Amino acid sequence: MSTKPQMIEPKGMGPGFWPVMIGLTILNVAIAAVILYTPLDWILPEEWNPVADRAADIDMLFKFMGVFGSAIMVYVAGFVLYAAVAFRRRAGEPSDSVGVQLHDAPKLEFWWTVIPTALLIVLVVLTVQVWHRIQFGTVAPALTTEVVAHQFNFEIRYPDWQGSVFSPPGEMHLPVGKPVRILVTSADVIHQFWVPEFRLKAAAVPGLVQNLNLTPIRTGTFDIACSEYCGVNHSKMQGKVVVESPEAFERWLAGERAHATTAASVSLGGGDAAAGKTLFAQKCAVCHAVAPFEQKIVGPGLLHLTDDPKHPKLVDGKPPTAANIAEILQNGYTGDIGAMPNRQANGLSDKDIANLVAYLASLK
Ligand code: CUA
Repeated sequence: MSTKPQMIEPKGMGPGFWPVMIGLTILNVAIAAVILYTPLDWILPEEWNPVADRAADIDMLFKFMGVFGSAIMVYVAGFVLYAAVAFRRRAGEPSDSVGVQLHDAPKLEFWWTVIPTALLIVLVVLTVQVWHRIQFGTVAPALTTEVVAHQFNFEIRYPDWQGSVFSPPGEMHLPVGKPVRILVTSADVIHQFWVPEFRLKAAAVPGLVQNLNLTPIRTGTFDIACSEYCGVNHSKMQGKVVVESPEAFERWLAGERAHATTAASVSLGGGDAAAGKTLFAQKCAVCHAVAPFEQKIVGPGLLHLTDDPKHPKLVDGKPPTAANIAEILQNGYTGDIGAMPNRQANGLSDKDIANLVAYLASLK
C-alpha cells in the first residue's frame, strides 16, 4: 500500500525570515567593519602602516574580497541553516511528505546571477591593475636588483658591481622611496622569493626571470623567506631585506664594493686545523660532508680533497694546492656541479680561510 506524498503549499517567506535577514545583514556589516576599520596585522603584517606601495595594493584586494566574500558566505550559510530549521518536518506531518517545490523564480535567479557576476568583474579589473603594477611598475625603476636562489640561500646582486651578497647571512638593502625592480631566478631547483611585508612573492625558476616592481615607503628590516620546498635545508633559506635611507644605502653599497675589491690574497701561514674543524662544522657542514666526493649534501664530500685519485683536480679544474683551495673559499664557485657563496657571504675572515685550508688539507 503506497500513499501519494503530500504536497505542502508555500505560505509566504516562512517563519522568521525577515528577522533572520536583518540579523545576517548586521553580522555582515560588523564583519566588513572589522575588515575595513581595524588593524589586520595578525594576518597581514604591517597592514596598518604599509611597508611598500604594492603591499597597500594587495591589502586593498584582500579587503575587497574579504568584505564581499564573507557577505556571500554569511548569507548562503545563514539561509541554508535557516531553511533547515524553518522548513523542518513538523510533528504530525507524514514521514514521506515533500517540502515546498519552487520552480521558475526569474527575479531571484536574475539577481543571484547579476550580483556575483558584477562583483567578479570588478575583482578582475582591480586584480589585473595590481598585477600590471607588480609586473611593470608605475614608473621607471631607480634601482634594479637581481635575486638568484640557490640551495640554500638567496644571492643578491646589484648593478655595476661584480660581487654578490648572499643571504643568509647577507641582506638585501633597498633605499626607501625609490622605485625598485627585483628580478628573480634560480640557479638550481625551484625556490620562491617572498617578503611577507611587501606582499610580493615570485617563484624562482631556473631559466625564467620574474619581475617584481615596488617602492618601499618606510624603513625597517623585514624577513625574506623561501616559500617553495626546495630540499633538506629549505627551512633555513631565509634572509633579510633592509629598507634604509638613500644615503645609508649608498654607504652600504660603497662598503660592499670596497670589501669585494680588497679580498685579494690571504696569507695561509699559521692555519690551525683544529680551529678549521670547528669552523667547518659551523659554516660548511650544511652543504659538505667529510666523506668521499660522491657523498654530496649540496656540494661534494671533501674527505679526500687533496689526495683523491678519482678527482685529482678541484671543481674549478685547478690542482688541489692550498692557494687554489683558498681561492675558492674567497671567491665562491659557480659551475656544472652547483654554486658556492663567496667569503663575504659565508662571513670568512682571512684567518678563517687559513684555518679551513689547514683543516681541509689534513683530511686524508
Ligand atoms: Cu629554497 Cu625552499
